[in-house]
Amino acid sequence: MLYRVQCSPMDTAQDLELLNQELNADAALESFAKKYDNYRVGFWPRVLGGFLVWCGNTLYGKAPSYLKFRAVEIIARVPYHSWESAAFTLLTMFYQNEEKALKYAELSNFSRIAKENETMHVVVISSLVQKESKANVIFHSIIPLLFAFFYFWVAYWFYLISPRLALELNYVFESHAFEQYSLFVAENKENLLKKPMDSKYLAWYGRNSENQYEFFMSVRNDEIIHRNMSIEEIEKATK
Ligand SMILES: [Fe+2]
Ligand SMILES: [Fe+2]
Repeated sequence: MLYRVQCSPMDTAQDLELLNQELNADAALESFAKKYDNYRVGFWPRVLGGFLVWCGNTLYGKAPSYLKFRAVEIIARVPYHSWESAAFTLLTMFYQNEEKALKYAELSNFSRIAKENETMHVVVISSLVQKESKANVIFHSIIPLLFAFFYFWVAYWFYLISPRLALELNYVFESHAFEQYSLFVAENKENLLKKPMDSKYLAWYGRNSENQYEFFMSVRNDEIIHRNMSIEEIEKATK
């Protein structure tokens, strides 16, 4: 079987759902991940991203957990919304240049699909948290919300000033998210298989996961797709 190892900023949500399902196979995941596993981000995304990952680990623990995922997912959807807004701003300035308009339309397409995907993560994981753990309002809701507000503007201006900086910073976050979900499904497989999924939001989104194992595997796959797409987008954004 020939696996897709590419994704493109012009992929539709349906294309990415199919890719997500393919990535359940170890061989497909390995070949997809390999393309950017050794990608070297620049100095500033490495320092800034490393610091923010350290903050997350310090506040919510190094080990993956439902509560950590919830806090991280509140923030994870924000840069995509920022970039969609940045693309809208840039289109306002360059609508007379069809080539540039197409470039920003592609950024907008990628950002919109990813932000809806990340929104699904936070909604569904929040409903799982209600069953599995007890969230602290300040620690698990207000702090990530305040950070998300601040991060919206950071990601927006970073994109306008340097798309490479914004996208490489996202590569650092998405790599960390992929590692955390990979560890979580590997360590909790038996337990997660016993927990059925029943989420109206997930059904509305169009994804069918029978149990929490299938759901968290699909989230893991989403994160590696976001990681790779961030780098694919650099090539388009810096042309
Ligand atoms: Fe996510
Ligand atoms: Fe993501």
